Order: sequence, then structure tokens, then C-alpha cells
Amino acid sequence: MPTIYVTNRSGKKYTLKAENGLTLMEPLREIDDSIEALCGGMCSCASCHIFISPEWFEKVPGPQSDEVELLEGTETYRSAESRLACQVKVTDAMEGMTLIVAPEE
Ligand code: FES
Repeated sequence: MPTIYVTNRSGKKYTLKAENGLTLMEPLREIDDSIEALCGGMCSCASCHIFISPEWFEKVPGPQSDEVELLEGTETYRSAESRLACQVKVTDAMEGMTLIVAPEE
């Protein structure tokens, strides 16, 4: 159960204890002014867009092509930081990771 440091859309910082095996979507949707996750994790809405800090981005298993396609269609896509929270599984390797919730589109 890693501790993950999150900055929401208003710039407020949160410390999350995320449960292993869930995706980042589940804990993130519980905080204020955060992801909407409108499709419920089906990789079809991009409303769970987050920016994982570059030093952590490389350590997280990479995205599938359908995730990349969806991300590339967002206005704020950053190739070295953007992920869909619903496609990132929580593991202990994420202890101390920092991420920012992407702006609403
Ligand atoms: S919740 Fe819709 S793409 Fe992640």
C-alpha cells in the first residue's frame, strides 16, 4: 500500500494511501477537484488524465496503444508525463510517487 503524493486541479496537495491491485483511478476519484473517470475505467473517456512526474513516469509499466491514442487526443498531452489513471495499477514500487491531476477538458 504505497503512499502517493497528489496535487489536484486547484493546486491542493493530498497524501494518498493507495491499495495494491487497484488502479490509480479508485483513490484519485475520492479526492476533491480531481479526475471524473466518466467511463468508469474503460479507457474510453480520458477524464482520468494525470501527469506522473518524469522521474516516476519511467518506472511505471508503459501504456497500451489505445491509452496512448486517447491521451494524444487531449489538449494537454505531455508525452513524458501523461497517463490515464484507470490504466495504471498500484504497486509498492510507487512508494513516494508524485502526480498532478490534468486540467479538465
Ligand atoms: S476513466 Fe475513462 S479513460 Fe480512464
